[in-house]
Amino acid sequence: MTVKVTDTVAVVTGGASGIGEGIVRMLVANGGSAAIFDLDGGKGSELARELGPSVAFFPLDITIPQQVEAAVSAVAERFGRIDVLVNSAGISPASRVVSRDGALFPLDLYRRGVEVNLIAAFDVLRNVAGVMARNEPSDEGERGVIVNIGSIAAFEGQIGQASYAAGKGGLVAMTLPLARDLASHGVRVMTICPGTIDTPMVQQASEQIRDYLRDANVFPKRLGVPEDIAAVVRTCIETTYLNGEVIRVDAAVRMAPR
Ligand SMILES: NC(=O)c1ccc[n+]([C@@H]2O[C@H](COP(=O)([O-])OP(=O)(O)OC[C@H]3O[C@@H](n4cnc5c(N)ncnc54)[C@H](O)[C@@H]3O)[C@@H](O)[C@H]2O)c1
Repeated sequence: MTVKVTDTVAVVTGGASGIGEGIVRMLVANGGSAAIFDLDGGKGSELARELGPSVAFFPLDITIPQQVEAAVSAVAERFGRIDVLVNSAGISPASRVVSRDGALFPLDLYRRGVEVNLIAAFDVLRNVAGVMARNEPSDEGERGVIVNIGSIAAFEGQIGQASYAAGKGGLVAMTLPLARDLASHGVRVMTICPGTIDTPMVQQASEQIRDYLRDANVFPKRLGVPEDIAAVVRTCIETTYLNGEVIRVDAAVRMAPR
């Protein structure tokens, strides 16, 4: 049997908000279960309460390896296995390398972006892959599916996005080596690169910027919604011939420098 959304057990980092929340809702609506890995104090517990016993919230900071290891073990214990990982947690620290008044990009800010967007994603991935490797294989030998949420900033990072683009570019670059590495365990790996999706991350922007972003799209001329990305996550899960690939989901936008 192939991994299907129905009956699947998924870990979704950043599952308390935006794209991650949309993915959790898609999984549950189709009969799956989800463990939300997100920061304490967000919407995680509220969402788990709303969606019922097939959803569990694990409050943690994915940049703290002990918390990641403990949460992955707890999910394996509670649900018996993990079939799917979606790495959606992310932050977008923005700064110019040298600002107009001469201030330098704060190194801690740069480091935090790469830490959350790339290194922590890898840490969750390696822990979850360790659990997936113990799954009973499907007839095709499949044991699990990993989907990282990258960004089109990996290809067209804008002014101020050096840290963000470095983190997301790292996710893109490691997609094929991860797929090759995990092939012997029957685990597939994809990275989805969203364009502009209408989530709290984008809702912080002014109406003027949101209009600009809408207009930058080729077609359709609207902001994306989490459901657009969740639909592609579902395709990634259920299409076993898809592996090692980076998929832009962006209304054909190609971002300008600013
Ligand atoms: N919204 C967009 O236009 C867009 C475009 C391209 C890529 N993305 C990527 O999609 C992903 C989701 O973005 P979103 O728009 O849904 O943002 P969001 O801010 O709504 O959700 C991100 C979630 O990640 C969680 N998170 C952040 N740091 C964490 C940490 N250290 N530990 C645990 N959880 C943490 C946050 O608490 C939040 O719930 C991100 O990786 C983002 O970079 C978003």
